[in-house]
Amino acid sequence: MQQFFPDTILYGGDYNPEQWSEATWQEDMRMVKLAHVNMLTINVFSWALLEPRPGQYHFAQLDRMMDMLAEHDVYADLATGTASPPTWMSRLYPSMLLVTREGNRVSHGSRQHYCPNSPDYRRKSADLVQQLAERYGSHPALKIWHINNEYGCHNAQCYCDNCAEAFRAWLQERYHSLETLNDAWGTSFWSQRYYHWEDVLPPRLTTTFHNPGQRLDYWRFMSDSLLGCYHIEEEILRSATPAIPLTTNFMVGFKPVDSVSWARHMDIVSFDMYPPNSASIWGTAFSHDLMRSLKGGQPHLVMEMSPSQVNWMARNPHKRPGRMRLHIMQALAHGANGSLFFQWRQSQAGAEMLHGAIVTHEGSEHTRIFQEAARVGGELQRLSEYIANSRVSAQAAVLVDWENWWALEYQPSPSDRLSYVQQLIAHYRGLHRLNIPVDVVAPDADFGSYHLIIAPLLYMLRPGVAENLQRFVERGGVLLTTYFSGIVDQNDHILLGGYPAPLRKLLGIHVEEFDPWPDDMSNEVKITEGELSGVYPCELWGELIHLEGAQAIGTFTSDYYADGPALTVNQFGQGKAYYIATQADPALLSKLSEQLCREAQLSPILASPEGVEVTRRVRPDGQVIYFILNHTGQTQRVSLPAGTFRSLLDDKQITGEAEISAVDAMVLVAL
Ligand code: GLA
Ligand code: ZN
Repeated sequence: MQQFFPDTILYGGDYNPEQWSEATWQEDMRMVKLAHVNMLTINVFSWALLEPRPGQYHFAQLDRMMDMLAEHDVYADLATGTASPPTWMSRLYPSMLLVTREGNRVSHGSRQHYCPNSPDYRRKSADLVQQLAERYGSHPALKIWHINNEYGCHNAQCYCDNCAEAFRAWLQERYHSLETLNDAWGTSFWSQRYYHWEDVLPPRLTTTFHNPGQRLDYWRFMSDSLLGCYHIEEEILRSATPAIPLTTNFMVGFKPVDSVSWARHMDIVSFDMYPPNSASIWGTAFSHDLMRSLKGGQPHLVMEMSPSQVNWMARNPHKRPGRMRLHIMQALAHGANGSLFFQWRQSQAGAEMLHGAIVTHEGSEHTRIFQEAARVGGELQRLSEYIANSRVSAQAAVLVDWENWWALEYQPSPSDRLSYVQQLIAHYRGLHRLNIPVDVVAPDADFGSYHLIIAPLLYMLRPGVAENLQRFVERGGVLLTTYFSGIVDQNDHILLGGYPAPLRKLLGIHVEEFDPWPDDMSNEVKITEGELSGVYPCELWGELIHLEGAQAIGTFTSDYYADGPALTVNQFGQGKAYYIATQADPALLSKLSEQLCREAQLSPILASPEGVEVTRRVRPDGQVIYFILNHTGQTQRVSLPAGTFRSLLDDKQITGEAEISAVDAMVLVAL
């Protein structure tokens, strides 16, 4: 088992001492100890301070910060500082500035204003990283390299001439000839054929809909361009400091960055999570399961979370007491080995001065937020020896595919109401409610350890995906896929011969027509037999389906496809393939999840009341650790397996039933 984390749970946050006097640094170190913080992320936005003039580096201040962290036994998550170039760079290298789709060149004065394909940006950032690697590579404080910051947050798509040129080179590598490019983009349409490479452009502002192939390749290309920036830093750091793990902080559910392909190049997957207070518990749980799955179950890290409020929503309420603690416990419950905040000390100036922090403008440890953070810090310290080595494992998976996402949400499409992430979460919800562990993996992953797979909106079938799904079901797996699946190939060309083309045999159906509904249209799914019996509202989408071996479990109740299949199942080899032709309501999806789990022989970790989440981590010696999280505002009860448990947070012994207070967490280990 590869272990990139120190053998302790990481806790801390972004720290920007350059905004404060050195007297304040000392005060910070005193308070860091009170909060049980063991890691701080520094240097995220320090490029302008480190390189005030071209090629002249000033490291004295960063030296003192690193020494201070080492003296106080605080690990440094040392950022490479490349997310925001200094102002003088835009004067010397104006083509480094990003250009919008409309052709406007942005200015500096905010952050992340660089074009990912700018040779000047790439060269200057490489120089900076080389300097940092040489200077701090063997510094005792250095524990993790934090490459750049939130790649693509503000510069995910650039349309400048650098990008146009790099796009052409990328396309040449992918397609080799213009002929193949023309085929892939289907340019025998709207007079779009290319005869010269120099005529191939990014999808800049034009009259109406772009060519879908061009749009799709631009998503791929821009994700790869940002990854190219990462690779430049990665190469320098790997050769200078092979033993120091690399990460970059993803934004969760971030469409421009194909996290599955990126994660292969990272040692630790980390991400930033800023759920609004209204976020569902299954939504945040899904984020963790996705992040954990990116590296096959290896622990992930929450790089940023607000302890209280953010400053960038239209309105920014505080997290209610206890919620921050529960967010952190939920991260651990889903396999994370640490949680850091943005940020340690609240800024006095700048666009984020009203963003929440552990040390507020008041400056002391006597605030509600600090006290809550310090309590959690103490708890994590106590949990560390039990859980740092443990893992979450799952036998159910939800499939996610960035290329599918890009193609699916292209406009024009049959419906602008299709949101890939919403559908993933809607289908994940049923399993989460049952306390079934779930991985979130790509459709070409190894399905060997799974019994159940749910693949919502699998519109694009990349090469090998249909076969992978078929093999899975053939050997006894249970599959559920949904409407608008099996429609196009990797070039976003329709798979001819009747939807869902390569899945037709596996699902035993032929979809003759799909029918996306406007807001004021809906239908119902009627099920007359078995545990699912009932009539359930459905929305968004209907289909005219012919059975080709499958059995209709549910039918639509109205419209021209009334009594036609809405939910089908097909026996295929040793397994079963389900298909749902509409957006079912949560009640049906929840019962359906129960049925799927029964058939896949998956049982809940423990049964729990609504709003109470139960997860499990297992230690290398097989010892099981249960997390019980009460997200509700009332005390709740959960029946435990036979035996006696020790509650690690309060050191009490429990048998039979766990009583857990409102907005509270319990971590149990069998005695
Ligand atoms: C992002 C950035 C941080 C900070 C926070 C504020 O996650 O990485 O630098 O701007 O947002 O929420
Ligand atoms: Zn560009």
